[in-house]
Amino acid sequence: MILIVDFGSQYNQLIARRVREQSIFCQIVPPTISKKEIEEAKPSGIILSGGPASIYDKKSPKIDPAIFSMGVPVLGICYGMQFMVSALGGKVNRSKKREYGFAQFSARKAENIFTDITKPTQCWMSHGDSVKALPRGFVITGSTDNTPKAAMAHIKKRLFGVQFHPEVEHTPLGKKILRRFLFDVCGCKRNWTMRSFAKKAIADIQEQVGSNKVILGLSGGVDSSVTALLLHQAIGKQLTCIFVDNGLMRLNETQKLKQTLTSKLKINIRFVSAKRQFLSALSGVTDPEKKRKIIGNVFMKVFEAEAKKIKDVSYLAQGTLYPDVIESVSAFGGPTAVIKSHHNVGGLPKKMKLKLVEPLRYLFKDEVRKLGKTLGLSDELIWRQPFPGPGLGIRIIGEITTKRLTILRNADDILQQEIKRAGYYKKLWQSFAVLLPLKSVGVMGDKRTYEHTLALRAVTSTDAMTADWARLPQSLLAQISTRIINEVDGVNRVVYDISSKPPGTIEWE
Ligand code: XMP
Repeated sequence: MILIVDFGSQYNQLIARRVREQSIFCQIVPPTISKKEIEEAKPSGIILSGGPASIYDKKSPKIDPAIFSMGVPVLGICYGMQFMVSALGGKVNRSKKREYGFAQFSARKAENIFTDITKPTQCWMSHGDSVKALPRGFVITGSTDNTPKAAMAHIKKRLFGVQFHPEVEHTPLGKKILRRFLFDVCGCKRNWTMRSFAKKAIADIQEQVGSNKVILGLSGGVDSSVTALLLHQAIGKQLTCIFVDNGLMRLNETQKLKQTLTSKLKINIRFVSAKRQFLSALSGVTDPEKKRKIIGNVFMKVFEAEAKKIKDVSYLAQGTLYPDVIESVSAFGGPTAVIKSHHNVGGLPKKMKLKLVEPLRYLFKDEVRKLGKTLGLSDELIWRQPFPGPGLGIRIIGEITTKRLTILRNADDILQQEIKRAGYYKKLWQSFAVLLPLKSVGVMGDKRTYEHTLALRAVTSTDAMTADWARLPQSLLAQISTRIINEVDGVNRVVYDISSKPPGTIEWE
């Protein structure tokens, strides 16, 4: 395994992705990690990330310099390289100007991590300070026009530094550089596959849980479904899943979920129909935040009541993913991850004295999808676009009524069908319909109509932090609009949302 020391770079997760893509396990750790903890982890190599700080800043992050004499190969990237230089007695120049953008990098000798860099190649720079004098025993291994000491190495000690970012797409040969470090220098093997992960995770769950009972809240999304499958394979009947039907799911979604998880995969699930409870609590409510709170509270109540019916439960399983875990241990002790979903039943373990089982806590989303495939989950569930906990409740602007839910459900179903048929479903982060509290005049046949307006939203994104509206073909938009107006009673106008995030958000409420 590889340890990635988090010095606060925005590219940290990308470094981890690059390592995992090579089927090598890695973990991101804060610089406060001790020498002992590193020894215990037995890493094959260490990567020091970049970061926004200058090593001259009083509060700049530092790791115990003992890592450089443990005999473990180290690759320092950007700030990571500068830290290596200053920790080992070299000198870093403090500069006022940042070098930001593309540069031509030439390797002095095409060997070691630069074996594949036989001619000048593009690299991505993003730094203020730069290296002035190398520590003893190091040699310059590459340079750019503005940065004579853009790469360095102490070959015997297997310590390497690069000023540029090999992990980003803008450094086209970056992957090759990382590969050389991982395989040639660190001697890593490709043994991190989802099959091997599943095997170990199942054994770990069995060991952690023993003969105790576990409950899990299912949302219908890929994370909780994969968690359920993994636990099911590990402990079978000791697992009970609870699915709360809040009446705010899409057309036939609950039934489909039932079929896949219960009938096909034989997972033990309790479906709690709480539609009435949710709708009556939401009656007359139009404020988005109030809606969210009500939905969250009713969910907790229903879930807890159902969980209490199962005797002697000791564990609560959750589909927490690695990005949430990383956030809570970031270099600067960043805020503990706030999981958006109201399915975050974080309050429950305390109240019910439950211990947590989080078998996906080391996985990225794409790995969860691969794992789902390995475990036999249907493509439909694996590739399901994110769906908010409050469901259609926050896609009906204004009051939520059964009638308005039916309109939105039918319209949204047409949108999903057409997006899938056109081959856009996997390419989009999310695509959905929003029902507006607005009626307008239209004409249908020879009759005047006065009906609802529906907004279509389709966005591309990689993490939902930012998003852009999708440039869907006009013919596809036309097809969706025509079908909705023709087939859904109560809609006579369809508009397309062309706002990006920021300043817009993905959901309308
Ligand atoms: P926004 O609308 O803030 O959404 O751009 C970002 C992502 O989060 C989802 N979302 C939610 N998910 N409970 C959830 O489980 C919520 O209350 C909630 N609100 C937004 C949204 O669908 C998008 O993927």
